[in-house]
Amino acid sequence: MSEFIRPCVKTAIPGENAKKVIALDNQYMMTVTKASPLAIKQAKGIVLEDVDGNIFYDFTSGVGVINTGHCHPKIVKAIQDQAEKLMHFAGTDYYYEVQSLLVEKLAKIAPGKHGKKVFLTNSGSESVEAALKLARFYTKRPQFLAFMGAFHGRTMGALSLTCSKALHKKGFQPTMPGVIHIPYGYCYRCPYHLQHPSCDIFCVKFLEETYFRQMVDPTEMAAMFIEPIQGEGGYIVPPKEFIQALKRICEKYGILYVSDEVQAGFGRTGKFFAIENYDVVPDIITAAKGMGSGLPIGCIIVDEKLDYPYSGAHSNTYGGNAVCCASTLATMDVLINDGVMNNAKVVGDYLHQKLLELQNKHSLIGDVRGIGLMQGIELVKDRTTKEFAKVERDRFIEEMLKLGLVCIGCGVSSVRFIPPLIITKQEIDVAVEIMDKALTIVENGK
Ligand SMILES: Cc1ncc(COP(=O)(O)O)c(C=O)c1O
Repeated sequence: MSEFIRPCVKTAIPGENAKKVIALDNQYMMTVTKASPLAIKQAKGIVLEDVDGNIFYDFTSGVGVINTGHCHPKIVKAIQDQAEKLMHFAGTDYYYEVQSLLVEKLAKIAPGKHGKKVFLTNSGSESVEAALKLARFYTKRPQFLAFMGAFHGRTMGALSLTCSKALHKKGFQPTMPGVIHIPYGYCYRCPYHLQHPSCDIFCVKFLEETYFRQMVDPTEMAAMFIEPIQGEGGYIVPPKEFIQALKRICEKYGILYVSDEVQAGFGRTGKFFAIENYDVVPDIITAAKGMGSGLPIGCIIVDEKLDYPYSGAHSNTYGGNAVCCASTLATMDVLINDGVMNNAKVVGDYLHQKLLELQNKHSLIGDVRGIGLMQGIELVKDRTTKEFAKVERDRFIEEMLKLGLVCIGCGVSSVRFIPPLIITKQEIDVAVEIMDKALTIVENGK
């Protein structure tokens, strides 16, 4: 755990130096998805320093990536050591030890019986693409199922599965054919207006009894892509029975169950893979964000029976980059052997409790949800009508930033709280104080 530091914002955001960085970026960088006018100079643990000397707590982990905290000394050392020895040698074409050691570790840590195989990628989207291709190749079936609110990436195949904002697809249609979307287990806003658990997971029954009868024959379905907790879609934790019922359907019809762990995996929920919270063993895991502590690496982990029968069916150039592999091995060591993953569970439960206390105080908070340090709140104008409080959510994020807490939104009016997993309860207390102040400002409309 790092030394205790309080956030301290001395300038307007953006400050004078940040304005220069932002102007340069705006001139030369293509339009992307900038969330806040924040220009970072350096970071350590959970603490960010911007180019004007302001100090913030990072409650985004660089959008779910820096699970071990910024510039963790063990990981920096592993990267430096590897960079001096070998940076790259096309791991899909040749052999080197750091890659072999990593795929062994990933294969052995995946839930279920041993006998897994791993393909290394460079990003979450590329992991999803690898899973799409493999599922089609193995099952010889044309169709895929994904969920409303899902985010699986922005490359063409992954984008076809993504269904969280129409904007993501606007101007890019038609995407890959053969994908149907059904409602996720979003019980706070059940599309069937039912209540869990009395609903008896009607949403999954409806899939089998209606979609499979009227829309697509299940024997044409290659795979289902499921986030164990919907991330971009609003930090939605479905009931355990929802995930288990989907797995039963997959088994019944020979459909591959793909657990997209790109955001929820690598210790974020207090388990190595988030699907372990549901006691389900998927056929394919896709991962990326938390793997390399900031270096670009992803993977799919699959049952060995799914492996391609011949060389060359699928490959890439940078997958298994030596420095990224070394960083991931060190990340896994820190998560598992230094108690960081366990901290995510203990401190995550603490944060959840604190958020529930905030909910008692602030009527803007409609729902609190999450597992481990994958926590989120949904803001509503009115708890009875549940009207989305999007403007208030954006203002809340802005006010938190001014007070030194960097957070990012998701869904329509939700905010995710995903600090590095090394965070302490003392730091959570400081962050919750800031959330409290920011919510008061927003509620008072000042
Ligand atoms: C669940 C999930 N899958 C896939 C992706 C795509 O990952 P990337 O942005 O690395 O391509 C994301 C990114 O947010 C994600 O949250």
